[in-house]
Amino acid sequence: MKPVKLGLLGVGTVGASTAMVLKNNAAEIARRAGRKIEIIQASRRSVAAGMPAGSGDISLVEDPFAVVNNPEIDIVIELIGGYDLALELVMQAIDNGKHVVTANKALIALHGNEIFAAAQQKGVNVVFEAAVAGGIPIIKSIREGLSANHIQSVAGIINGTGNFILTEMRDKGRDFNDVLREAQELGYAEADPTFDVEGIDAAHKLCILASIAFGIPLQFDAVYTEGISDVSTEDVVYANQLGYRIKHLGVARRTEAGIEMRVHPTLIPEKRLIANVDGVMNAVLVQADRLGPSLYYGAGAGADPTASAVIADIIDVARTITTDAQNRVPHLAFQPDQIVDIPILPITEVQTAYYLRMRVDDRPGVLAEITRVMGDKEISIEAVLQKEPETGVTQATIIMLTQKIREHQMVDAIDEIKRLEAVHGDVHRIRVETLDGD
Ligand code: HSE
Repeated sequence: MKPVKLGLLGVGTVGASTAMVLKNNAAEIARRAGRKIEIIQASRRSVAAGMPAGSGDISLVEDPFAVVNNPEIDIVIELIGGYDLALELVMQAIDNGKHVVTANKALIALHGNEIFAAAQQKGVNVVFEAAVAGGIPIIKSIREGLSANHIQSVAGIINGTGNFILTEMRDKGRDFNDVLREAQELGYAEADPTFDVEGIDAAHKLCILASIAFGIPLQFDAVYTEGISDVSTEDVVYANQLGYRIKHLGVARRTEAGIEMRVHPTLIPEKRLIANVDGVMNAVLVQADRLGPSLYYGAGAGADPTASAVIADIIDVARTITTDAQNRVPHLAFQPDQIVDIPILPITEVQTAYYLRMRVDDRPGVLAEITRVMGDKEISIEAVLQKEPETGVTQATIIMLTQKIREHQMVDAIDEIKRLEAVHGDVHRIRVETLDGD
């Protein structure tokens, strides 16, 4: 059978690794795909930088449009990242009747609806396994492996850089910026690391997961996003004492009232497997009605793990290249006419439990004042921890865990607690998820 010819856009960390793995594992890949798969052309900003040694006979150009317009090429691999140029190139490739493999989560999260509509019309495939959780085959698992199920929720640690930072803070008490710098040096962080730290990268990925889990359109703007830059070492320590770990979690949950999509620091009971996912590793917990819970764990960033997902997609496309377009796995898991616009819940209506930390006067009656506010707002307290004040200090730190309530009740209660004379400074709040399948 004729070899499948690829055009590679971007020879950065993942692009270089993709070229090397395709070359080094060529025989094994051909055994799986049923034919040879080879990159014939690649583009990078400067041809002077060349291709990695040993990646084979690949023509290198500076103009990425030369690749997407090359009539020899069957599949375009988009690994340049970003929005505008990537979108233009992908749309052009589709228009030229080429299949596309991309690792670009921002592109899919923001422009996926438009890209898939164009691909559908042209009868080509656009696949994006590497866009979510690096090397973990989470897209394929949800889209195909769980297709018998009604999926109730997806909760994941889906940013390796953020998880690496929180882990190092907890285990070694390291400084936030120092760990971030190391993540950048190791090639985990986004070009703009605020995407990692502020949860934007995780929100891109969560919006993709929600779409394939529930059959809803991609809607990045509807994801509530909070970063980890306000998580203090103090909170990490108190959470540990209460039997919890703080993780930057993405949660997509189906409820009677609508769908929750949110990314924020979260306390998770330490006995849950996902609470023990550390360093740059990612994990996604899926609750499905027939299977129950299943957990997918692996490297969420890095050159080879991401290349592993890119190449799995290439092999998938190579296998289905001759298949009638109507009989391929739909881009967003559900048939295009079955994508339903279920309402997304505003964060004020989302229900979670809470961890609160506040600094108060150490005198009789203060705890009673705070619990009265909670009682008035119908918030039930699950646990209270008061740290003994240091000698000579007249203020104490109080930690509280509440039961599940709506966000707006908590916001109202915090406003009122902050107005109490005995309470000083901010009331720090972190959401809690038990992840027990409720
Ligand atoms: N910056 C991302 C992360 C890379 O740290 O997870 C993989 O998408």
